[in-house]
Amino acid sequence: MRVCVVGAGAAGLCAARHLLVEPCVTHVDVLEQTSQLGGTWVYTETTGYDDFGLPIHTSMYKSLRTNLPKEVMGFPDFPVPESEKSYLPAKDMLAFLQSYAEKHGVTEHIKFKHHVQLIKPKQGATAELWDVTYKNLITGVTETKEYDYIFVCNGHYNTPFIPDIPGLKQFQGDVMHSHDYRVPDIFEGKKVLVVGGGPSGMDIALEITSVTEKVILSHHVKEVGSVFPSNLTQKPDVEKLDGNTAYFKDGTQEEVDVVFLCTGYQYNFPFLHESCNIVVEDNCVEPLYKHVVNVQHPTMCFIGVPYYVCAFSMFDLQVRYYVRSMNGTFKLPTPNEMMRHWEEEKIDRASRGFTRRQAHMMGPDQEKYYASLASEASTETIPSVITKIREESSIRFLNNLQNYRQDVYKIIDNDTYEILSNGKREILC
Ligand SMILES: Cc1cc2nc3c(=O)[nH]c(=O)nc-3n(C[C@H](O)[C@H](O)[C@H](O)COP(=O)(O)OP(=O)(O)OC[C@H]3O[C@@H](n4cnc5c(N)ncnc54)[C@H](O)[C@@H]3O)c2cc1C
Ligand SMILES: *[C@@H]1O[C@H](CO)[C@@H](O)[C@H](O)[C@H]1NC(C)=O
Ligand SMILES: *[C@@H]1O[C@H](CO)[C@@H](O)[C@H](O)[C@H]1NC(C)=O
Ligand SMILES: *[C@@H]1O[C@H](CO)[C@@H](O)[C@H](O)[C@H]1NC(C)=O
Repeated sequence: MRVCVVGAGAAGLCAARHLLVEPCVTHVDVLEQTSQLGGTWVYTETTGYDDFGLPIHTSMYKSLRTNLPKEVMGFPDFPVPESEKSYLPAKDMLAFLQSYAEKHGVTEHIKFKHHVQLIKPKQGATAELWDVTYKNLITGVTETKEYDYIFVCNGHYNTPFIPDIPGLKQFQGDVMHSHDYRVPDIFEGKKVLVVGGGPSGMDIALEITSVTEKVILSHHVKEVGSVFPSNLTQKPDVEKLDGNTAYFKDGTQEEVDVVFLCTGYQYNFPFLHESCNIVVEDNCVEPLYKHVVNVQHPTMCFIGVPYYVCAFSMFDLQVRYYVRSMNGTFKLPTPNEMMRHWEEEKIDRASRGFTRRQAHMMGPDQEKYYASLASEASTETIPSVITKIREESSIRFLNNLQNYRQDVYKIIDNDTYEILSNGKREILC
C-alpha cells in the first residue's frame, strides 16, 4: 500500500508516525507546501501570500500562548514534556512537534515545498486508486503520482469565514480578519471593533487594550464571567454597519476605525476533484463516516475535522482507527451503511439543537465520539481525565480570561487530576 499524506501539521505527522510502522504500508509520502513542519504552530510575520504566490497558511500571532493546558495537548504515546507552566507559547508547541517527528523518523518522509494541486480517483482502474498531482515549488515541475490511500490533513484554521454583516463591504475604515493578525501595534490609537467571542476574539481583544483606549468586543457568548479592563466594552452582535458607525442588536451604536473579524474559519479542500464526492457547505464536510472516512471513496480519510476536541489525542485515535481498517483489524461498513450512519448522526445532532454549521462540533459529545471510534477498531480510547481537564479549563477560561493561563494542571491517573490555581491546590475527578 502506497499512502499519500497531505500536510505536515500535527495531524499529518501523526498519520505518518503510525503508517511508518504498519507492515501493510510500503510507502509513505507526506506532501507539505511550506518549508517547515508544524502547520498552525509556525509563526511568520508575513501575511497575504508567500514567495511562491500561495496564500499564507498559518494564523499564528506573535504573543500566542495555548488556550488549553499542555497536559491535554500531547499525543497519547508522546506527552508534552513536564515543565512549570501548563499554558505554553506557540514556539514550545512547534518544538514539541519537531521532536515528535524526529523521534518517529517522520521528518525524512516529508517532501517540503510540495504543493498538492489535484487529487482524483484514477480512471479505468479496477481497484480504487488515486492520482495525486503536486508541484515542486522550487523546480516548478508538476508531477502526478499514483497512491492506494489518501490522508487529508490540510488543517482548517486558514481560510477566513467572513460573516454576512449588512454594510461590511461599504465600511469606510479598515476591515481585517484574525488570520492576518500578528502584533497589536497596527491598532495603535485606533477604535477597534472586534467581532467574535471565540478564543481568538477574546485573546486578541484583550491584547489590543494595551495599545488603544477603546476596544469594543461584540459577541454572543452567554456565560462570560470574566472581568475586563475598563477600556474594553462588550456589545451584543452587530446588526449593521453604516459609514463608520456600528449598530448593535441592543439598539446602541459606536463610531469605529477598524472592523476586526475574529469570526473563525472555513473548511477548504481546493485540491479535491469533484469526483472525490466531498461537498463543503455551511461548514459541513460530507459525507464522512464518523467524521473520518470518505463514504463514497473509503480509501480516502480526513484527520482532524472535528473541533472543540483534544486535538492531538483525537488525531492519534482517528489515525489508529483508520489504519486498523487498512490492515484488517476490522472492516468498515459498506458505503450504504456508512451513509445511513451519517444521515442518522445528522438527524440526532439536529434534534439536540446543533445547527448545520456545527456538524463537526464535539464539545460535550467528545467522550462518546472517542469511544465509538475506539470500540469499532478495538483500540484504546482517550482517558477521560483528558476530556475532564479540557472541560474544566474551558470554564476557567471564560470565567477568568485575564489570568486563566496561570493555572497549573497535573494528571494523577486516568480519571483524576490536580489544579494549582491562585495558590490553592484542588484534586478533581
Ligand atoms: C491561532 C490558533 C491558535 C490555536 N491554539 C490551539 C491551542 O491552544 N490548543 C489546541 O489544541 N489547538 C489550537 N489550535 C488549533 C490547531 O490548529 C490544531 O491544534 C492543530 O495544530 C491543527 O493541526 P492540523 O495538522 O490539522 O492542521 P495545520 O496545523 O493547519 O497543518 C496543515 C498543514 O497542511 C499544509 N497544507 C495545506 N494545504 C496543502 C496543500 N495543498 N499541499 C501541501 N500542503 C498543504 C499546511 O501548509 C500545513 O502545514 C489553534 C489554532 C489557531 C489558528
Ligand atoms: C487599558 O486598560 C488596561 C487595564 O486597565 C491598562 O493596563 C492599559 O494600559 C489601558 N490601555 C491604554 C492604551 O491606556
Ligand atoms: C494493525 O494496526 C494496528 C494499529 O497500528 C496494530 O496495533 C496492529 O498490530 C495491526 N494489525 C496487523 C494485523 O498488522
Ligand atoms: C489508562 O488508560 C489507557 C488508555 O485508555 C489504558 O491503556 C491504561 O490501561 C489505563 N490505565 C489504568 C491504570 O487504568
